[in-house]
Amino acid sequence: MTTSFPPGFRWGVATSAFQIEGATTADGRGPSIWDTFAGVPGAVAGGDTGEPAADHYHRWRDDLALLRELGVDSYRFSVSWPRVQPDGRRFERRGLGFYRRLAEALREQGIEPFLTLYHWDLPQALEDSGGWRSRDTAHRFAEYASLVHEELGDVVDHWTTLNEPYPCAVAGYGEGRHAPGAREGHGALAAAHHLLLGHGLAVQAMRGQATPQHQFGIVLNQSPVVPVSDSAADAAAAARQDTLLRRQFTDPLFGGRYAPGLAAMFSGVSDFSFRLDGDLETIGAPLDYLGVNYYYRLHVADAPHREPDPAQRTVADIGVDTSRLPDVPRTGMGWPVEPEGLTEALVGLHNRYPGLPPMYVTENGCVYADRSDFADYERITFLNEHIEAARAAAAAGVDLRGYFCWSLLDNFEWAHGYKHRFGLVHVDYATQARTPRASFRWYRDFVAAQRG
Ligand code: FCB
Repeated sequence: MTTSFPPGFRWGVATSAFQIEGATTADGRGPSIWDTFAGVPGAVAGGDTGEPAADHYHRWRDDLALLRELGVDSYRFSVSWPRVQPDGRRFERRGLGFYRRLAEALREQGIEPFLTLYHWDLPQALEDSGGWRSRDTAHRFAEYASLVHEELGDVVDHWTTLNEPYPCAVAGYGEGRHAPGAREGHGALAAAHHLLLGHGLAVQAMRGQATPQHQFGIVLNQSPVVPVSDSAADAAAAARQDTLLRRQFTDPLFGGRYAPGLAAMFSGVSDFSFRLDGDLETIGAPLDYLGVNYYYRLHVADAPHREPDPAQRTVADIGVDTSRLPDVPRTGMGWPVEPEGLTEALVGLHNRYPGLPPMYVTENGCVYADRSDFADYERITFLNEHIEAARAAAAAGVDLRGYFCWSLLDNFEWAHGYKHRFGLVHVDYATQARTPRASFRWYRDFVAAQRG
């Protein structure tokens, strides 16, 4: 295999707070929208909740030992906002203390902490006053970011504002598949805008108090969108999907404009009155990196809107059908395995936005059914092929700085609950025993080989 990555290329793994920590009431933590949502009958498969997850809040030292054994040089994790501000405002020092201990210990082991401020767990109190539909939430987020940055700026250099604003806005406020479970049009578009604004305000606040080594970025999920035929209708459907999923975010962040076509797509749904003068400048302030999460490509056909009256339409109702998958192998999530989509995502961004900051692959991974001996050869093949696809993007001129595998541990996979397992390490949720899979040893050896 040809695997020459640039010098200093980072190899890591990623997790997120709500998905692994458990301990949802420890040390003054307040409820998040995911605690509330998981309590709604039928919202999460199996009635699963944020308890016990991988009980990482109590077992983080064991998990740090796993990171050491894995030999990664970087670890991407997220801070739980409702641990640090249980009601979205009041500072809870005990909650923050957890992340200080973690970041310090990572550093002592020579592992670089990549901290994400928001991986979907909004304090419920802020949802009660409008959530991301409300402009005030963007300001609350900037305040929270500035607080965490001030407290941990001495031990963390890599600061990611948001993880994947697309599902937050569309699955959360449009489709109702994710917390807070809303099905809206205007509200979901407002949520997307306020997430971006919150990002921009947070970067502004943190830059104002940063030291020179601090780096600021955002993480976006990037599924290249492919029309299922060469018909004009399918091409137009693919363009709508791309606008909703990607350009709604990347154009304001890196192109200095709102995505052309977005307002026309939602005419009658929203008047976009949430866009205020100056917002674009705040959102588009320069970043030090862009994190790309890649799992699959989206294959799109034209289809009728489900709701004929635009005023009643949700943001997810854009007249597309995404169920026509290509004839390729699928993962246990049912996602098509298409490693070339990762090359395409990275090269596509690079070509579309001159002046794009350096990129990292901040998530990539898969689910397959376990064998009794945890010999997950499919996962090894998947990772191997995707790392190769990342290498191809770097070879094509993309400034790619690192790759993070999702995930270190099995965890709470949002609306799917605990059924789907993304970990390099198997977690027995009853005993909390950790068992490294074969892919863990493969990644360990692979990373060691890269160092030569
Ligand atoms: C991404 C999320 C991450 C995880 C993976 C499978 O969209 O960022 O938390 O659930 O999907």
